[in-house]
Amino acid sequence: MADYIIRPIKNKDIPQVAEIDHEAFPGEWVFRSHPSYKQDFNNPIARYIVASTELNRQGVQQLPLFKRLFSPNHSPNKGKPKTEYIIGFAGFWLMLKDAHITTIAVRNNYRRIGIGEGLLISIIGLATQLDATAVTLEVRASNKMAQALYEKYGFQTVGRRLRYYSNDGEDAILMCTDDIASASFQSHFQQLKMAHAQRHNEVSTRLF
Ligand SMILES: CC(C)(COP(=O)(O)OP(=O)(O)OC[C@H]1O[C@@H](n2cnc3c(N)ncnc32)[C@H](O)[C@@H]1OP(=O)(O)O)[C@@H](O)C(=O)NCCC(=O)NCCS
Repeated sequence: MADYIIRPIKNKDIPQVAEIDHEAFPGEWVFRSHPSYKQDFNNPIARYIVASTELNRQGVQQLPLFKRLFSPNHSPNKGKPKTEYIIGFAGFWLMLKDAHITTIAVRNNYRRIGIGEGLLISIIGLATQLDATAVTLEVRASNKMAQALYEKYGFQTVGRRLRYYSNDGEDAILMCTDDIASASFQSHFQQLKMAHAQRHNEVSTRLF
């Protein structure tokens, strides 16, 4: 299990985020140059977050986060140089009351350990704080693993965009939540969030 935090993106994260983007979306980079990432991340209607872990100089993960927080003097890694390693990122554009997810991706070696779900929880939480009423997204028709993640969080298929992806002409499925401020959505969301926290209990989120 990786110990990681979720925090707002910083410009210094761009090279690592570009690596993840390239790996996750081969042939269809969401953005193509470092200046265009910077432009999008700083767009006032955009919110981007990263999942980040720490490696020491040897590329070995640091102590679990809670141990570092509560026993900093006992860390055997104390004093050794640390490298922040970005393992996933996600973002959305807030358009009126609609939080439209533009991307969510996790490094190959860090998949299936709850990080994508942690990012989605943070996005929905942030969209709720910003008074969005729905979260929407497009996903490749063949991308069943991402669709499974979204369905778990109550997204429903509401449309199909034919030949949406220009690099290979694949269709996109358009998915949307119910009103995220509604009692029924929030009750389901809080249950899932709690279950995720119990399963992956070393995550800490520092949002805006
Ligand atoms: C989609 C993606 C972000 C999921 O991230 P992840 O960290 O591996 O996912 P998690 O471990 O948090 O899994 C959360 C849920 O997603 C679904 N899921 C993730 N990977 C899956 C897989 N290989 N098969 C089936 N379901 C999967 C499951 O519902 C899972 O819940 P569960 O653990 O209760 O079964 C990741 O696979 C990725 O980066 N893919 C490439 C980029 C991409 O396709 N992004 C989506 C664009 S719309």
